[in-house]
Amino acid sequence: MSKTISFPPDFKWGVATSSYQIEGAAFEDGRKMSIWDTFCRTPGKVYQGENGDVACDHYHRYESDIQLMKELGVDMYRFSIAWPRILPDGTGTVNEVGLDFYERLVDSLLANGIQPWATLYHWDLPQALQDAGGWPARATVDAFVNYADVVSKRLGDRVKHWMTHNEPWCASFLSYQIGEHAPGHQKLDEAVAASHHLLLSHGRTVPVLRANSRDSKVGIVLNLAWNDPATDSEADKEAAWRMFGYQNRWFMDPVYKGQYPEDMIELYGGFPALQNGDEQEIAAPLDFLGINYYTRAVVANAPGNPPLYTTQVYPEGEYTEMHWEVHPESLYDLLKWTQERYPNVGDIYITENGAAFDDKLTEDGQVKDENRVNYLKGHFASMRQAMEEGVPLKGYFLWSMMDNFEWAYGYSKRFGIIYVDFDTQERFLKDSAKWYAMVTRANSFEF
Ligand code: FCB
Repeated sequence: MSKTISFPPDFKWGVATSSYQIEGAAFEDGRKMSIWDTFCRTPGKVYQGENGDVACDHYHRYESDIQLMKELGVDMYRFSIAWPRILPDGTGTVNEVGLDFYERLVDSLLANGIQPWATLYHWDLPQALQDAGGWPARATVDAFVNYADVVSKRLGDRVKHWMTHNEPWCASFLSYQIGEHAPGHQKLDEAVAASHHLLLSHGRTVPVLRANSRDSKVGIVLNLAWNDPATDSEADKEAAWRMFGYQNRWFMDPVYKGQYPEDMIELYGGFPALQNGDEQEIAAPLDFLGINYYTRAVVANAPGNPPLYTTQVYPEGEYTEMHWEVHPESLYDLLKWTQERYPNVGDIYITENGAAFDDKLTEDGQVKDENRVNYLKGHFASMRQAMEEGVPLKGYFLWSMMDNFEWAYGYSKRFGIIYVDFDTQERFLKDSAKWYAMVTRANSFEF
């Protein structure tokens, strides 16, 4: 028996993308190299050496893409601004032509009744700043605050929802410790310093956005994880707690409690990047928290595996093309955990959620992605349950509006609800897009 799950009338629906993943036009109108342009050109780093030079060509097709958003019936669109279009050298001369593009985008969104939600940093750091030390260097904090000031001075009268950073865990640990993302370093101390400078730049940017964009809402986007211990043993439970430390507490504690977790500082062997007063700046009060959630992890203790001494195990179940377990119940667990541990968190938005599947385009232009629809249904049901129990979840952005450049996986993973033929740039609404268009309009779905 199916049942109807309805959302409150003021609940908002959206789709999300990011600059490097969709824009293309990589060297047009004054844009210079970002760390991802460099990384893509480094042999062995990105699937088949693919890059974002063209991507979805959204830079030239934004008008028709906005018409597709209208078909989806979304209230809001989350996109990111490419720092190397605005300040091609990271600091110094402002490239007004780069700002013009985002002005056109924002104006067109507003004219079509779609709220623009802008992320300032979704990983495309100007290469010049990486050459000067990147996020492990404290000077990058000043560069970011200046960039945020420039952008919000131009767009702040029209963009009223700002996100400073997208997933600082990825921009630090995945990029400077694990090495899977640009710039591909493998040094724990660099990652720890990078994470701190990302957070400090976040905290210092909050008052700048408030000054330049009156009555706007300001938040940060974190990829919070849900970790289940592999067994009931104390050792596995502690291992799961360390993973919460690595991915969640390290970011949430300074932002919402004004203090980094001691146990993690100890695990990292010290924290030279932290200076007096930094934690206070990081804890600038916010209007909302953005949570990106895709999957859970099942974690076991692993004494031989520093620095966290954990390993991930993979239970039987359904997995996406990313080899991410489909586990919607954990989204409920995570929302409850977040609200209980951080009661001052305020409004929450899911700023990304979705799945990559092996989509097939039929000859008559259809994609029968029932697996994606089922993934979404499960997650929407979890959200609704958490809301019923008091979690202040106000809206949802689906990742992603369309297939795009999936970082180290190149174009091999399709997260879109719109299928993109990368040879012709033709777009096709998948079944999930047609289903989502019904949800955004009815504000409910059959489960
Ligand atoms: C998130 C990123 C986003 C996209 C999804 C699949 O970590 O923020 O850009 O790649 O994963």
